[in-house]
Amino acid sequence: MDQLKRQAAARALEEVRDGMQLGLGTGSTAKHFVELLGERVAAGLNVIGVPTSEATRTDAMRCGVPLTTLDEIDHLDITVDGADEIDPQLNLIKGGGGALLREKIVAAASDRMIVIADDTKWVPTLGRFPLPVEVIPFGLGATRRAIEKAFAECGVSGQMAVRRARDGHVFVTDGGHWIVDAQLGRIADPASLAKALSAIPGVVEHGLFIGLASSAVLAGGEGIRVIERR
Ligand code: A5P
Repeated sequence: MDQLKRQAAARALEEVRDGMQLGLGTGSTAKHFVELLGERVAAGLNVIGVPTSEATRTDAMRCGVPLTTLDEIDHLDITVDGADEIDPQLNLIKGGGGALLREKIVAAASDRMIVIADDTKWVPTLGRFPLPVEVIPFGLGATRRAIEKAFAECGVSGQMAVRRARDGHVFVTDGGHWIVDAQLGRIADPASLAKALSAIPGVVEHGLFIGLASSAVLAGGEGIRVIERR
């Protein structure tokens, strides 16, 4: 599986040109991209990156990839990031690693978003992977009830749980927020659900990435498949 992730990352790297400003994703697949990019930088490639998490910042610095922020530059050429699920319209579920908020800000600031993944992430319909919803801890009870209402209005339902770290403590995002993971099973209309969740005051962001991915690079046993958004 790790080999496939690296192959997808290597294919995305072929799109990178000298002088580009890049969004650097988070997760085990994006980590391969950062490592391979670091090798190209060491060989003379001139690029600059914006990391989507503190973990990616650390990796990029270790790999010698020069970094900047979205306050210092006005746009990104390409963001390369992983995903937890990808559907045929290239809508995504992201946030399994907890970095969805910065990932979405960075993807939205990019001319193109290339999603890299092994082909187990490809699904006919989103929802098998629990949907991460990043929330403000204050008023969580009210926010949860509003989320449940939004789910019902969009024809989905399922268990919700506040995410915990391995040590049992509540998982806290880079932005200081919490994450509620929702087991929805099948999201028939991800665009409507995304809109409904975004309208809830206590919701900071959610893991539905609608219309952001330009292409997906999927690595599987049969080779690499590149899917462009129509
Ligand atoms: C991080 O918050 C996520 O959005 C990741 O991009 C996603 O979980 C994919 O991670 P892997 O590449 O580790 O599967």
